[in-house]
Amino acid sequence: MHERERAGGSVLLTWGGGHCCALAGADPAAQAKEGVEANRSICKMLSMAAGAVVFFAVALSAATSGDTAVVEHTFIVSQVRMRHLCNDTLVTVVNGQFPGPALEATEGDTVVVHLVNQSPYGITIHWHGVKQRLTCWADGAGMITQCPIQPNTTFTYRFDVSGQEGTLWWHSHVSALRATLHGIIVIRPRSGTYPFPKPDVEVPVIIGEWWQRDLIKVDKNFSIGGSFDDNPAAATINGKLGDLYNCSGVAEDNFVLDVEPGKTYLLRLVNAALFSEYYFKVAGHKLTVVGADASYLRPFTTEVVAVAAGETIDVLMVADAPPCRYYMAALANQPPVPDPQIPVFISRGVVQYNNIPSDAQNCTEKSPLMPEMPDQHDTITTFYFHGNLTGLQQPGGGHPLLPQVRGRVDERLFLTLGKGSMCTHNKTSCKRGGSNESFEVAYINNVSFHLPETTAVLEARYYGSGVAVEQLPSMPPRAFNFTDTALIPVVPGGKMEELEPTRKATTTRRFAHNATVEVVFQSTATMQSDSNPMHLHGHDFFVLAQGHGNYDAGRDVRSYNLVDPPMKNTVQVPRLGWAAIRFVADNPGAWFLHCHFEFHIAMGMATVFEVDSGPTLETTLPPPPSDLPKCTR
Ligand code: C2O
Repeated sequence: MHERERAGGSVLLTWGGGHCCALAGADPAAQAKEGVEANRSICKMLSMAAGAVVFFAVALSAATSGDTAVVEHTFIVSQVRMRHLCNDTLVTVVNGQFPGPALEATEGDTVVVHLVNQSPYGITIHWHGVKQRLTCWADGAGMITQCPIQPNTTFTYRFDVSGQEGTLWWHSHVSALRATLHGIIVIRPRSGTYPFPKPDVEVPVIIGEWWQRDLIKVDKNFSIGGSFDDNPAAATINGKLGDLYNCSGVAEDNFVLDVEPGKTYLLRLVNAALFSEYYFKVAGHKLTVVGADASYLRPFTTEVVAVAAGETIDVLMVADAPPCRYYMAALANQPPVPDPQIPVFISRGVVQYNNIPSDAQNCTEKSPLMPEMPDQHDTITTFYFHGNLTGLQQPGGGHPLLPQVRGRVDERLFLTLGKGSMCTHNKTSCKRGGSNESFEVAYINNVSFHLPETTAVLEARYYGSGVAVEQLPSMPPRAFNFTDTALIPVVPGGKMEELEPTRKATTTRRFAHNATVEVVFQSTATMQSDSNPMHLHGHDFFVLAQGHGNYDAGRDVRSYNLVDPPMKNTVQVPRLGWAAIRFVADNPGAWFLHCHFEFHIAMGMATVFEVDSGPTLETTLPPPPSDLPKCTR
């Protein structure tokens, strides 16, 4: 009830499953159906969490009066078995759920999450896109802002969600465990009004992947060059594989969205996949894009939405089609050959109208209408989709959460995203082409990021010792034709002799407080010809422009949108192209910057932006919380 009031008449739909206590409860049939193994000890822990839920309800009613609230949760991380595609797979999840629990707040609220780690792995949780003003310690980037929370220990994350509204998400930030350790974050406006027609219902739509591999091992494989056999088994929508997948002829469950004719649905799309960008469509329905990465966009209507890895897109869908059943589908795209190909990943769910008249024409029980998807090798549709995004700044002042773009630039970086090779055993010279004397790594400006092992970067910085860091170069060491398709590695390792000698280092770039920073990301053909969804922690940035080919400052600055660019935390750097962003470095701390493709980050496509504290208490990073996990070595 309170929730209904607070959302200004909207209701957030969840996808069932609920707490693991429900899954582990008295209904063995339902339990077997979900394929979730009961975990009694989690249930005990959840009585603790239940207290938090009550508190949450109280907090919600307080929020309706305009006061900020504390949104408190207990996240119990454990391993459970889930059954899909005829296999039992041991997965690491929060509170027994995949996807994990939704975190719902109103702008300005404080979020408190008690993390109880009952898994065998060191865990951190990153609140993807949350600005974390003065709370860098709570950012949850493993070995960047904290050491992992060790098995059988706890840590409490505390931070505010201020100055942003829309959809974000949380995920673990160690190794590849985030494949199943993630959930949505919903931040609603305090006024209860959106800068678009009020939706009747809000629906999280989390696009993910189902993996049947040891994800720790997958990450290790990538860190030493990768194996092209390490692929997900399926794509998912809200944890459901959908009926294009089956076990011995029995279709996997679909995510089902029940709709009432005439109502407006706010679909909160999140791409939580490790590997791919996705196209999303709903048959028979148009979608109006209204936000991305928890910032408002100038609305535009489209049939197809592209969601880059790590990105969120908010769309309105009006249930205005003839009452029937319609598929929604999410299809992974990939560059065409000569890039090495991975299998096609597509998941679908069903939009199901209430009270379909029995004489509804062409509406059969069996086959909902399937949307016509773009080609899986179409990388132009995403280019134009992302190029169409504009922020909700208006001439003469726009949405209060969207500032104007600063004209002055203090620091400029040109960062190439690509792949090089390194000699094994720390040797400096070796045979590169197809020999086992060397392995492939990903880089930014020819340096591959080395994740520190003993102390987190932020701690090292705060205490002035512990991690040897190097300055990230502003430019690549050597210019070449970055987007020359002849450089695309046809088979893994096949063009090793052409890969630049690269090295590993913990690179950082330090910015004075309040500096305006412009970064141009240049994709190269050396890392296959993939796009690169680059994500910066702790700051939103404006995406000023994007283009195909090599960036040319003299020509391309003229295409910058300095009036109403979209505000993002993840920018899809086009394949064989570039993107330019600008942000104000005003949040002190150490902020990870990396590609959101898991294999790219594991291979080293990352760096850290360090932002100095300002002159006042309000601009100074406070000391770490006393329960910040210690490193074990
Ligand atoms: Cu969602 Cu460091 O990432």
